[in-house]
Amino acid sequence: MEIREIERGDARAAALLHIEGQPGTFLTSLGVEFLTAFYAQLADSVHGYAFVATDGGRVLGIIVGTRDTHALYKELLLKRGIHLAWPVARRLLKTPSLLGRVVKSLFYPSKVHATPGDAEFLFIGVATEARRHGIGSRMFEALVAESQRRGAKRLLSTVEVTNDLSNAFHAKWGFAKIDTIELFGRPMNVYALPLVSSQAPS
Ligand SMILES: CC(C)(COP(=O)(O)OP(=O)(O)OC[C@H]1O[C@@H](n2cnc3c(N)ncnc32)[C@H](O)[C@@H]1OP(=O)(O)O)[C@@H](O)C(=O)NCCC(=O)NCCS
Repeated sequence: MEIREIERGDARAAALLHIEGQPGTFLTSLGVEFLTAFYAQLADSVHGYAFVATDGGRVLGIIVGTRDTHALYKELLLKRGIHLAWPVARRLLKTPSLLGRVVKSLFYPSKVHATPGDAEFLFIGVATEARRHGIGSRMFEALVAESQRRGAKRLLSTVEVTNDLSNAFHAKWGFAKIDTIELFGRPMNVYALPLVSSQAPS
């Protein structure tokens, strides 16, 4: 098992893991093309960072973070606006009711009150058959190290209240709940984890 930075060639596998891990959520509803464009951009991103877990060339896990969600959104729109807009436009033609959620998602960063010392843990997903073998934790350690390398003192994370696996994972790593917000009509826990020199699960 290897944990390494995401590369462009991992984008589609990462998108499929995202859909597998979060069926029925807003980003998933935008489709595999949109998510593939998103992960391809992360491979070259200034503001976002992501790691994959691979085994024999197969991508089994993906984790994503950023030091600045606003800046990451802006970067995505400027650099891959066309690639991202086309799949969204096609989705909207099929499902116009998604428009409200697309607009809301543009305001998502303002819902989480990040300060300059914060990094944000945006997503983690492990292939169903590979879960509970410590892959999520190994990727998380890589994310923490990279967040610290980029100067972060605290990690924020937003998790749907009903997502038992992710809430358990956050509890294991010692995240404390600091707020509850509503996102895309769903209640979300906002978590914070102070970053210390040797991060260990509780
Ligand atoms: C959350 C997720 C990434 C965890 O990945 P993983 O590789 O299984 O995690 P680990 O094996 O490193 O588990 C670490 C800890 O998380 C907790 N945990 C993980 N899966 C759990 C489960 N099914 N039930 C209870 N606790 C669980 C445990 O505390 C575990 O430690 P332990 O095994 O020593 O008890 C994985 O379950 C997943 O992909 N879920 C679907 C996608 C998702 O919801 N992502 C979050 C969106 S923000």
